[in-house]
Amino acid sequence: MSMPETGRKAIAALIVLCLFGAGLQAAPEGPRLGKPLSGADSAAMDINVFPDGHGLPAGKGTATDGKTIYDTQCATCHGPKGSGGSAGELAGGSALDGPHPDQTIGNYWPYATTVFDFVRRSMPLNAPRSLSDDQIYAVTAYLLQINGLIGETTEMNAKTLPEVRLPNREGFLRIWPSSP
Ligand code: HEC
Repeated sequence: MSMPETGRKAIAALIVLCLFGAGLQAAPEGPRLGKPLSGADSAAMDINVFPDGHGLPAGKGTATDGKTIYDTQCATCHGPKGSGGSAGELAGGSALDGPHPDQTIGNYWPYATTVFDFVRRSMPLNAPRSLSDDQIYAVTAYLLQINGLIGETTEMNAKTLPEVRLPNREGFLRIWPSSP
């Protein structure tokens, strides 16, 4: 027995309404992949420092200030003066073309600004993001000083840090065809 035309139309309209209604109800919850990030939360994560110094915060510090921080918060893992600890060698490396070279900031890293970025986002290993910007400038200055790259009282800040040229700056090959 075939359904009258009006009955079929009514059922079709009901199905459309149900689908539409279900869509409307599901929309506010979304696929439950997380919650929107607030402006303050995303600002706290916006800590990239680029090789040219873009992104460096205000603040300053010298190697003299940084030595105390290093000795109390870094030396247990990295050794006195950045060498001889269980974690990576930070200073005192042999020549890179020697038989067993250690890659240090002085003989390997291309940019001084990356030291600031790396320490800010991940060190000390047991308490990352615990240092203030002044403390990070200071400990960065200390790491540069024990590598013989700046003096004990040379102030590191957003202007001076990018000006420190690391010896291995040109020691890398650019592998992206679009790079100049
Ligand atoms: C609990 C141990 C520990 C402490 C404390 C610690 N580090 Fe590290 N650090 C490590 C380890 C392990 C690595 C290697 C991590 C990796 O390669 O991802 C590392 C890597 C580094 C590097 C990169 C080395 C490289 O050439 O790849 C730097 C720079 C650094 N630490 C600086 C610091 C500074 C500055 C402090 C103190 C504020 C500090 N660390 C405290 C364990 C530690």
